[in-house]
Amino acid sequence: MKFESIYQYNFPTTIRFGAGSSKELPDYLLKQGWKNPLVVTDPQVAQLGFFKDLVRNLTQQKISVEVFHDIHKNPVKSDVYKGAEAFDSTHRDSIIGIGGGAALDVARAIALRIHHREDLFKYDDLIGGDVYVTNEVPPFITIPTTAGTGSEVGRSAIIADDETHQKKILFSPKLLAKMVFADPLLTMELPAFITAATGMDALTHNMEAYIAKMPHPMCEGIALEGMSLISQSLEKAVNQPDLESRSMMMIASLMGAVAFQKGLGVVHSMAHPLSSLLDTHHGLANAVNIPYGMEFNYEGFESKFDKMAQALGVTGGKGEKVVDYLFELNDKVHIPRQLRNIGVKEEHLETLSQLAMADFAHPNNPKPLTVEHFMTLYKKAY
Ligand SMILES: NC(=O)c1ccc[n+]([C@@H]2O[C@H](COP(=O)([O-])OP(=O)(O)OC[C@H]3O[C@@H](n4cnc5c(N)ncnc54)[C@H](O)[C@@H]3O)[C@@H](O)[C@H]2O)c1
Ligand SMILES: [Fe+2]
Repeated sequence: MKFESIYQYNFPTTIRFGAGSSKELPDYLLKQGWKNPLVVTDPQVAQLGFFKDLVRNLTQQKISVEVFHDIHKNPVKSDVYKGAEAFDSTHRDSIIGIGGGAALDVARAIALRIHHREDLFKYDDLIGGDVYVTNEVPPFITIPTTAGTGSEVGRSAIIADDETHQKKILFSPKLLAKMVFADPLLTMELPAFITAATGMDALTHNMEAYIAKMPHPMCEGIALEGMSLISQSLEKAVNQPDLESRSMMMIASLMGAVAFQKGLGVVHSMAHPLSSLLDTHHGLANAVNIPYGMEFNYEGFESKFDKMAQALGVTGGKGEKVVDYLFELNDKVHIPRQLRNIGVKEEHLETLSQLAMADFAHPNNPKPLTVEHFMTLYKKAY
């Protein structure tokens, strides 16, 4: 697949996709009459050359920019409150999220907070809080700089409690970005480790969405193509990045997030507790767990695994080879095979199993799970 221009896609929201698309931001804002954006990012991205260029391009067009980057690696509620204060005190009219999933989630949660001033976690989707999202949300634009979470096209933000570190999901269709500028050039300097971990997150989204319980052929089609793009580009993007592999990864990660409207599964439920308990990067947690989770799902879903094998280009297109393929892909992108190699200790496994059982993702897994299943899976992965 060749990407030679900037394309416009309208599913699920308007996406300007292609090398250089982020340069369209100033003109877009001026056309909309939004001249006072709050730009939300993380402290590392704020220091990068492309970010400084982006801000310079805005100010050169007489757009007044306020940058907010005071956020945690796994974002917490107080980050969102501080960002909303910055929006109010500097009289902003719109919000632009630029960064990985963490920055985009905080930007989206700030957008929610502006006209929804009850405690942030009243809007937690898991307790039906989405029904309270009734007021307007300020104009919200996303610019991803990793190819992983697909948060740029999502409708939810994952924010943790400052004390308990428990992750909450803020969800509403109102939280979809009005415009997405997906510019693979912004990922050219992404370090190999982050490329690998975020890329495996994107692969997990496509695979878990494809086999998730809910029937949704549109999402299944997107997920299969997403897997195929990742199988053709992730290794290259990690080991010898070029614009083509970066472009393929960026569109595939966005497709994963579109597809997972259908649901996620066992792998995300194994991954989430690693982030809340041990601060493990979300993508890395998925990457190590995905072969084990998929092995659990294989029996009874052989024909779906055959289709995934074909999409992934597994030799012979046999579903039974998918787990081996995942281990080998992790090897190629330098991700360890065992949880013991990413800071997990044997004494964590019991707590991890309890937390995984309480997680929101696995009820959509094609096979039901018990806490004993999680313990067995973690022991294998350990
Ligand atoms: N909203 C959703 O649907 C959704 C889905 C999955 C995960 N998430 C959330 O997303 C977060 C993870 O996002 P992520 O995997 O993108 O990681 P991240 O946002 O934590 O970024 C990882 C690291 O990469 C750096 N970085 C980002 N872009 C860069 C670039 N272009 N060049 C160099 N460095 C760069 C960041 O500064 C950070 O240190 C978690 O908080 C997770 O809960 C949200
Ligand atoms: Fe994910």
